[in-house]
Amino acid sequence: MNAKVTFPIGYQLESCASNIKLISEPVLLTLHPFGSNLDCSQSFGGKSTANMSNNRKFYIETYGCQMNFSDSEIVASVLSQNEFQQATSLEEASLVLLNTCSIRDNAEQRIWKRLKELKSLKKKNPGLQIGVIGCMASRLKDELMEGGLAVDLVAGPDSYRALPSLLTNIENGQQAANVALSAEETYDNIEPVRFHSNGISAFISIMRGCENFCSYCVVPFTRGKERSRNPHTIVEEARELVSKGYQEVTLLGQNVNSYKWEDENGLVGFPDLMARIAEVSPLLRVRFTTSHPKDLSDDLLKVMASYPNICPAVHLAVQSGNNRVLKLMNRKYTREWYLERVAAIRHFIPDATITTDIIAGFCSETEEEHKETLSLMEEAAFDAAFMFRYSEREGTLASKRLPDDVPDEIKARRLDEIIKLQQNLSARSNRADIGKSFEVLVEGKSKRSDDFLMGRTPQNKVVVFPARSYKSGDRVWVKIKGSTPATLKGVPVTDDSISTSDDHNIR
Ligand code: SAH
Ligand code: SF4
Ligand code: F3S
Repeated sequence: MNAKVTFPIGYQLESCASNIKLISEPVLLTLHPFGSNLDCSQSFGGKSTANMSNNRKFYIETYGCQMNFSDSEIVASVLSQNEFQQATSLEEASLVLLNTCSIRDNAEQRIWKRLKELKSLKKKNPGLQIGVIGCMASRLKDELMEGGLAVDLVAGPDSYRALPSLLTNIENGQQAANVALSAEETYDNIEPVRFHSNGISAFISIMRGCENFCSYCVVPFTRGKERSRNPHTIVEEARELVSKGYQEVTLLGQNVNSYKWEDENGLVGFPDLMARIAEVSPLLRVRFTTSHPKDLSDDLLKVMASYPNICPAVHLAVQSGNNRVLKLMNRKYTREWYLERVAAIRHFIPDATITTDIIAGFCSETEEEHKETLSLMEEAAFDAAFMFRYSEREGTLASKRLPDDVPDEIKARRLDEIIKLQQNLSARSNRADIGKSFEVLVEGKSKRSDDFLMGRTPQNKVVVFPARSYKSGDRVWVKIKGSTPATLKGVPVTDDSISTSDDHNIR
């Protein structure tokens, strides 16, 4: 299954759905900058190139955010260069790797459950080796290594180059682990095996780690210090992708605005990097995720406005609309600052979509404070949002200092109110596009019918339209005729005048 998987840093799908009407967190909108053809987790085998001495085949199941998906492609590359082949199914694999996520408790619960299933599989197939990599490996090495689970290998996000030697160590039935975090590793010179890609759009990791220490968040603990990757290799990777026919890249990092590279030629910041990538080809669509509001600069917005191929879409997680809560979350901005940044986006890039993340029921949040989140959502008029119930994570600043004291049923009710409001806002945003035309980059067939294609506008909204003779990778101007909260529906501009029956079909 080679569906493209695109969801932003920090998201894992705890429920399997791709529609706005998700009931459990995280709520994902298909028009979100990075939501597309989602699956609960993605498991991949793939083509192999290695000439194997011992015919060992690996299979990777990836959970969590886009960073993990990107990392799985690095892991596949490292293993393929070291006499491993990618299996096309779990059944033919001798090594299964779970690339895991710790962002919320239910993300981890899924992995514990999966490990139990794999343990039973191992009883039937004693040769199967089980490895846990990614954020949970960082956080819970000792628990994962407990004999009861049948885990052979644990490797954190900065240890993937060491996988071949770790795998040698487990050959005699022993366990091996390396969860050391690095201040330098960026996997700079490793060309990912892009087995998640649809051949049209790709992710390029530009930095790793995070040092913002938002009080609720495990990422600084699981992924370590922030470090940026050499811009020359990033530009090279973009060029290479263009030469292979890719039409869209998304630059990836936990907080891309703090991207910084300094060498004898001077300092490269994120706006400079964006400009360099935009200049790789005027036909390449350029996106990025994700930005922290405290660092979203006018310089970046100006660069976005000045390159037509930088997509007008900004994902800017707000988390809460109340200043006291924002302070407790250690977000380092206020409601007023956030709304001013929204105004700046609208000023420099009037047609931009703005999407966000919201946490319901953070420690000590009152009803009034929750209402301020609702009112901020209306003021910012978000086009889409990922919305979560607060989940306390051991080791974070919040877990040490702030009681998780909002009862579950209140968290659930507040989340529900947030979701309902966002549905209205998304519906309104999409209705406002009716009558407009957009250049749509076609990603594939629509889920519901082979007679329709789906693609995205530069604003990253999903559009469905009649296939005609168009195909994946085409860019088609589509006039919008109808909408739902999650999707725009239209017809190719060329046949707008003769499309009465299609108009009927797409409603
Ligand atoms: N680096 C990104 C976000 C990464 S995590 C950024 O700051 O924009 C993705 C989202 O998960 C966060 O924005 C937040 O809304 C949510 N999240 C993180 N930790 C959480 C927790 N403990 N409970 C609930 N939601 C959480
Ligand atoms: Fe987590 Fe905050 Fe870093 Fe995002 S910026 S990864 S929410 S600590
Ligand atoms: Fe991503 Fe989950 Fe780690 S959201 S950074 S895989 S904790």
